[in-house]
Amino acid sequence: MLVDDFGRTIDYLRISVTDRCDLRCNYCIPKGYHDFESHENWLTFDELTRVVSAFARLGTRHFRLTGGEPLLRKNFPILVKQLSQIDGVDDLSITTNGTQLANQADALYRAGVNRLNVSLDSIRRECVEKITGSDCLDQVLNGLKIAKDVGFKRIRINMVPIPGQNLQDIEHMIQFCIQHDFILCLIEVMPMGNTGQQTKNIDLQFILKDLEKKYALLPIHEPIGNGPARYWQSAKNVHFKLGLITPLSRHFCETCNRVRLSVDGTLYMCLGQNNKMALQPLLRANCSDAELENAICQAIKLKPKSHEFIEKPCQINRIMAATGG
Ligand code: 5AD
Ligand code: SF4
Repeated sequence: MLVDDFGRTIDYLRISVTDRCDLRCNYCIPKGYHDFESHENWLTFDELTRVVSAFARLGTRHFRLTGGEPLLRKNFPILVKQLSQIDGVDDLSITTNGTQLANQADALYRAGVNRLNVSLDSIRRECVEKITGSDCLDQVLNGLKIAKDVGFKRIRINMVPIPGQNLQDIEHMIQFCIQHDFILCLIEVMPMGNTGQQTKNIDLQFILKDLEKKYALLPIHEPIGNGPARYWQSAKNVHFKLGLITPLSRHFCETCNRVRLSVDGTLYMCLGQNNKMALQPLLRANCSDAELENAICQAIKLKPKSHEFIEKPCQINRIMAATGG
């Protein structure tokens, strides 16, 4: 088992398989952004398999593939299949923007993905276009429909509420999620990169107060998923489940169970700190399994106690797509 210096067990690895994205969400990738990692620095499928196997041997059981937009990685379902067959990979999930889901949902389901998070900030076409820079709502809705049809259960919709952009859409999103049996998860925007730092944040505790009354929300105690989201269920409507991720208004660092691998093979210990360890040089020098495991154990020792998004809001230059969301 990997345990950090603050006694936290690390059993969850999030893996960015590409930092590219077909969208430009205004709180994430800046327009005209050119700092994408060059292709030769991307970990290959075999290198990713080595890293995941090493984490699995060290007791990690939960893995999530992210990006950028992971479905843009060429032959992505083949990678998923390769990773899902590794001993110890009990839970393999994906976070996607949904634009390519219609084509890939079936292959991903069959390759062993057990949970899907789909990012969607509104179900108004103009609003989605304004936030993402692309008129992609119909494509995403179609992807969601197909994902449900091929068998994905409890799909989670990630929505980042932003004042002046989509706050008025929360109610619509709730109705949409009730209708399709999706879980709606609201996320506070984190000050990552210029885009994240310039985006107006909203304290989700206020939104929660409103919704608690309106839907008679009761906290769900049994765990859903494997992350920091807290969940509620409506006493008025069994189909309504709400999640909140509140890194700023109520942080959850003391129970953090994860680290992140970026596309170039750097392990980031925290979204809100710069502590990291590069695994790529080791992998490309043909290190042994023991050396790789040893490097991972050393990296875990670098995991900081908490982020400092409030104390040092300009500390993180990396955008979310560069670290892996
Ligand atoms: N803060 C919070 N969430 C963000 N995302 C992207 N950038 C940020 C940010 N700065 C979200 C996306 C997606 C997930 C991968 O991360 O909306 O749901
Ligand atoms: Fe792409 Fe996700 Fe960033 Fe939007 S938030 S630009 S979908 S990586």
